[in-house]
Amino acid sequence: MLSKYHWWRDAVIYQVYVRSFLDSTGDGIGDLAGVRAGLPYLKKLGVDGIWLSPFYPSPQHDHGYDVADYRGVDPLFGDLAEFDSLMAAARRLGIKVLLDIVPNHCSSEHPWFREALAGEPGSPARARFHFADGRGPDGSEPPNNWHAMFGGPAWTRVPDGQWYLHMFTPEQPDWNWRNPEIADEFDRTLRFWLDRGVDGFRIDVAAGLFKHPGLPDSDDPEADARTRDSVNPLAWNQPEVHEVWRRWRSLCEEYADRDGLERLLVGEVSVPTAREHALYVRPDELHQAFFFDLLGAPWDADAFRKVISEAMQDIAGTGSTVTWVLNNHDQVRTVTRYGEPATGGSGLGAARARAAALLMLALPGAAYIYQGEELGLPEVVDLPDDVLTDPIFRRTGSRARIRDGCRVPLPWSGQASPFGFTSGVEGAKPWLPQPSYFAEYATDRALADTRSFWHLYRDGLQLRASLPQLGEGTLRWLDTPPDVLAFVRGDGLVCAVNFGTAPAPAPAPGTPLLSSGPCPPGVLPGATAAWWLNDL
Ligand code: NOJ
Repeated sequence: MLSKYHWWRDAVIYQVYVRSFLDSTGDGIGDLAGVRAGLPYLKKLGVDGIWLSPFYPSPQHDHGYDVADYRGVDPLFGDLAEFDSLMAAARRLGIKVLLDIVPNHCSSEHPWFREALAGEPGSPARARFHFADGRGPDGSEPPNNWHAMFGGPAWTRVPDGQWYLHMFTPEQPDWNWRNPEIADEFDRTLRFWLDRGVDGFRIDVAAGLFKHPGLPDSDDPEADARTRDSVNPLAWNQPEVHEVWRRWRSLCEEYADRDGLERLLVGEVSVPTAREHALYVRPDELHQAFFFDLLGAPWDADAFRKVISEAMQDIAGTGSTVTWVLNNHDQVRTVTRYGEPATGGSGLGAARARAAALLMLALPGAAYIYQGEELGLPEVVDLPDDVLTDPIFRRTGSRARIRDGCRVPLPWSGQASPFGFTSGVEGAKPWLPQPSYFAEYATDRALADTRSFWHLYRDGLQLRASLPQLGEGTLRWLDTPPDVLAFVRGDGLVCAVNFGTAPAPAPAPGTPLLSSGPCPPGVLPGATAAWWLNDL
């Protein structure tokens, strides 16, 4: 057995939301050739790898998280030959590639679900999903009272009177993981992509898959529809799911044993506590699981300190590292979440988002950056109703939790939409409209301006790659005034963040190595973070 190279333990991965990254065909939708064209940009930024959001054949009811064929490429995004070219280009640049795998549910267009619909109640084809008879004298009530994450009941009735379970939209039927055929089929899918050279998988809804046996009623049926998190304790986080992660881990180890290079499994794990989260990253399970508590924390020194301390205590103790994340394609972007009013990027929200980025990059463990985060893009909050595509809007009629605002196509260059996002076709329109103020955030402007978010991320990533104090390891908190957090990494790298608005004394002497805003010696201004190299 070869000794393995744990490249993922402090890797920084960039999430590419393919349909919004770069469009090479002019249809207004980003694609795999666009990702390939953007790789040099990502290399320059300094990330270790990319995670590609789903590009498989799909009716796109949930932008690819409704998969009709797990082993292909939707013509919207290219084909397998283009995928192979992308892999080869990434390999040449030394960029790792993770795919997004969706094991909790598929698309209602998946051949196995069509077969189930055509099959009889009780047939083997139906046993791959959760089909059940309804309640009430004529079976017209759903089998239980669960609600779907995206609103409405978690059950849909089919013409012969049975119901099927879907924890998201009706177009996303849940697989029945108690049927061994499902695990075997997913093994084949994992091997298909690993044989094509991918470096690992981001696992969608990794606390899902198994439901409580018997599918009993929930005491709080609307819990899932109320929040962005999956909280119905009967529908998520069942102990049996850990068996699947052990199985996937040993499959990945087979590949790692061949060449010494670990294939990474990173789970989207939303569970109530850091302690439960830690169960998913035990040494024989997932390598990483996104630690969403940082993303969920309000801009407050105590809240951040609590989240970081809990993560270090509960997760680092498993032998894994903590996987930090501030943004993704499901969440309001940091610039807006931390207080930017609607548009513009030079105010408080932007200053705080810059500070949070330096904090995240200084924490022990791995980090994920969501495309556009490195440009300081704000959430687009004023998209008109008629352009919204998020099924949450379709299913609830409410704008409260919709995710289109963080998915608007990236601006690359120029003064007007499509800002270089689509190429070649006159008048091509991005699939979501880009606001005119995106001009200020275009990558060409960001690269030319050393004060931009892009340079902050690039400089932070460069220092992370070169300083032994950063990346994996531990941290030691320093005593600080209430609004300030400061910690020491390894041999004397100090990171401090001032969450307040008034300047505070700097916790380390001299000029910082890197700061998120102007930072004179001895002072840490409000909404600013900085790194110093000092013996403290
Ligand atoms: C989590 C994904 O991040 C989200 O975009 C998707 O809608 C749900 N899982 C359902 O697959």
